[in-house]
Amino acid sequence: MSAPRILAIETSCDETAAAVVDESLHVISSVVSSQIDLHAHFGGVVPEIAGRAHVELLEPVVAQAISEAGGSMTDPRIEAVAVTNGPGLIGSLLVGLSGAKAMAMAWGVPFVGVNHLEGHLFAAQLEADGVPFPHVTLLVSGGHTMLIAVDAPGHYRLLGSTIDDAAGEAYDKVARYLGLGYPGGPAIDRLARQGDPEALRFPRAMKDDGLDFSFSGLKTAVVRAVDKNPDLDIADVVASFQAAVVDVLVTKSMRAVAMSGAKALVLGGGVAANSSLRAAATVAAEESGIPCALPSMAMCTDNAAMIAAAGWYRLRAEGGAELSLAADPSLALRMEVA
Ligand code: KG4
Ligand code: ZN
Repeated sequence: MSAPRILAIETSCDETAAAVVDESLHVISSVVSSQIDLHAHFGGVVPEIAGRAHVELLEPVVAQAISEAGGSMTDPRIEAVAVTNGPGLIGSLLVGLSGAKAMAMAWGVPFVGVNHLEGHLFAAQLEADGVPFPHVTLLVSGGHTMLIAVDAPGHYRLLGSTIDDAAGEAYDKVARYLGLGYPGGPAIDRLARQGDPEALRFPRAMKDDGLDFSFSGLKTAVVRAVDKNPDLDIADVVASFQAAVVDVLVTKSMRAVAMSGAKALVLGGGVAANSSLRAAATVAAEESGIPCALPSMAMCTDNAAMIAAAGWYRLRAEGGAELSLAADPSLALRMEVA
């Protein structure tokens, strides 16, 4: 008899993803179908197109995840179904949520809703052996930039967040302005390797001692610099932009670690796939004598394995959800009650 398994589904934005993960968080299968090609032409995610694509992709993606785990749609060999019910695009969330409810009902297994952000917080648990608690997670994605004290699984305190653009949003906007395509993060990451990060000195918004972030001034500074001097080497521009983003993210993360007495720094979210951020965070954590847990690139960007990990936790802590559970586009991460 193999360990109990959960099927997780993630459709909050532009990835249709399904995964089968066992109770000890061993990933049996993880399938991610990206819609990047569908949206790249428009320079960003088009909600209507995303919703329609999820409708087409959900069943084949789930069937593939189940079959790679040795089951079939009639005999899935899973004990529960977890699904992201927010935050995200409402039309996209609803596709995954209704699919998950129907499957749980047909298979007669419990069903549990997962907060997408809690999924990102659990991603490191899937791969790194025993990330110690308490730790600080820097959650940096296209929609969020947060510093979260994770005292124990499910016990979170928000230490800081962005007051304007998310870090990934800044990458995407700068890339769009420079004509580098969508999504901007990976394109800038690649091009920055050929540039000089000290060619231009862009502002670091961290005058105060706080843990909040602001990236819109940096984005404007990049636009101004290029408008003023169109002959600038674009590789130098993006390398200098990235140096400013990474500098702020790492400085504030280490400040959060010091203030909260964390035993590790954890990165999560799409921007945590950034090579420069990964290197700088690793060095800074090492200098402070703590480990830096870096989920693999595939576990940083949106996937369903991380939803499965958070799903196991929620299922054990609270039991299954009612089938009336709603999708909530602005679902907040539940913080610890002080
Ligand atoms: O977590 P994610 O896949 O989706 C959201 O929940 O938002 O994050 C997507 C974001 C995009 O803004 C993308 O440009 C950024 O992550 N990203 C990166 C890299 N790979 C993805 N940003 C910087 N460097 C990267 N290598
Ligand atoms: Zn995400």
